[in-house]
Amino acid sequence: MSRKISSVVGGKDAAAIETYASTNPARTAEVVAEVGLADAETFAVAAATAKEAQREWARVPAPVRGRVIASIGRLVEANTETLARIVTQEIGKPYGEALGEVREIVDTCDFFLGEGRRLYGQTVPSEMPDKNLFTFRNPVGVAAVITAGNFPVAVPSWYLVPALLCGNAVVWKPAEYAAASAHALYRLFVAAGLPDGVLNIVFADGGQTFAGLERALDAGNVDKVGFTGSSEVGRKIGELAGRHLQSACLELGGKNPMVIMPDADLDLAVEGALFSGFGTAGQRCTSLGTVIVHESIHREFTDRFARAVREARIGDPEQDVLAGPLLDRKFADRYEEYLTWIQPHHRVVTGATGRITAESPHGGFTGEGGLYYHPVVVDGVRPDDRLFLEETFGPIVGVTSFATLEEAVELANRPGYGLSSSIYTTDAKHAFRFREGVSAGMVSVNNSTSGAEAHLPFGGNGKSGNGSRQSGMWVLDQFTRWQAMNWDHSGRLQKAQMDVADITPDRDFRL
Ligand code: UN1
Repeated sequence: MSRKISSVVGGKDAAAIETYASTNPARTAEVVAEVGLADAETFAVAAATAKEAQREWARVPAPVRGRVIASIGRLVEANTETLARIVTQEIGKPYGEALGEVREIVDTCDFFLGEGRRLYGQTVPSEMPDKNLFTFRNPVGVAAVITAGNFPVAVPSWYLVPALLCGNAVVWKPAEYAAASAHALYRLFVAAGLPDGVLNIVFADGGQTFAGLERALDAGNVDKVGFTGSSEVGRKIGELAGRHLQSACLELGGKNPMVIMPDADLDLAVEGALFSGFGTAGQRCTSLGTVIVHESIHREFTDRFARAVREARIGDPEQDVLAGPLLDRKFADRYEEYLTWIQPHHRVVTGATGRITAESPHGGFTGEGGLYYHPVVVDGVRPDDRLFLEETFGPIVGVTSFATLEEAVELANRPGYGLSSSIYTTDAKHAFRFREGVSAGMVSVNNSTSGAEAHLPFGGNGKSGNGSRQSGMWVLDQFTRWQAMNWDHSGRLQKAQMDVADITPDRDFRL
């Protein structure tokens, strides 16, 4: 069932300069949507349209905007299966995970509908009498949100929901290969009653988007940029925003470590590593990069992990599988490149690597027609290897060993990312030492590196981001700016720092 979709600006379909076919990665011959891609000018016009619509939207009382968010949540909930099915069809995410992804949108709406009745400011005591101080959260204005396709609906909702709740208008540019999922989500948002122009969706390729964003920033029509994607593109977006004296909200890649202490419950650790590394075919930004296992249990862990991976079900994402295909051809090509980083000193402990085919099946699965790849565990990874240092988006996990916890923390931080991390241990002292030392924004204890909950801060440091945080109340600082107000009703000019009463203590007093 192929649909034709295009950008929507100010409630109207916008013109396209070319057509992109979004295909089903489990059956690459199947076109899910024909997507009209717009040019840079359309992006810039969308930002101008958003700017115009934002004024009125900001005047809608926050609790009323909260009701709109509540309606979005209910509409998404009522359309759960349909939306999840589109996600599975378009990016090959196993249906069970796709349902979880849709749940994450509902959770986000549930959190923010109440924020409409909070969005607290403060009353603050003044240093002078007859004067009152207040703080207010003001919307930033227009947010340009550019998102990846591995979480085609949940991660965008982390931006869209709080941005709209706070009184901003949005131009959203989703990944082309996940356009049908994004368009479906857009329609659910609009059905909740958002006025035209408050949320605009623009499909465009990377070059046109960047040029359009630059134009919109130059024209003063974008006040906040949100970007989820690679560290490489994030750097460019961050630079562009910086040139316009803005700090972008960047959610970038990860090389997420999992440390396994000798006191760990190994069954639990193997299960956690399996899901962290190969759930979503390793294509979460929170997916496991390297297992850092204590030398005394290295052998045992690796054998058990390899067995679990060999036995894991890979296949049709509509079935009950651990992983389906890679997201899109572009990702499959890039993943094949990562496989070339396997060196002679490495030991692939899971068997075959590369494409799953009739000649090279995984279990009984032959992968016909889809972008299916063998899950790979590489033992003997060293701290200077590319495989250790760089993100490898896809089903490949490295294993290395350590002697002391200090060394494990150093290895965990070495790649210079800082999104997620995990430690398996039964000793609280180890868990807290690790938490303190690790550079990641998210730390799991006896749990997967992935699976952030919708109301905790989410974001990275180093190559994973510039410290911005999404989700929960923390994201409010991305989409609002604090305004400080003082109101003097003394009837005279009271000068701060100067006209302040002084109470003199007896400094020589001793008991
Ligand atoms: C991402 O891949 O961009 O914690 C985010 C998780 C998900 C979000 C991943 N809730 O794995």
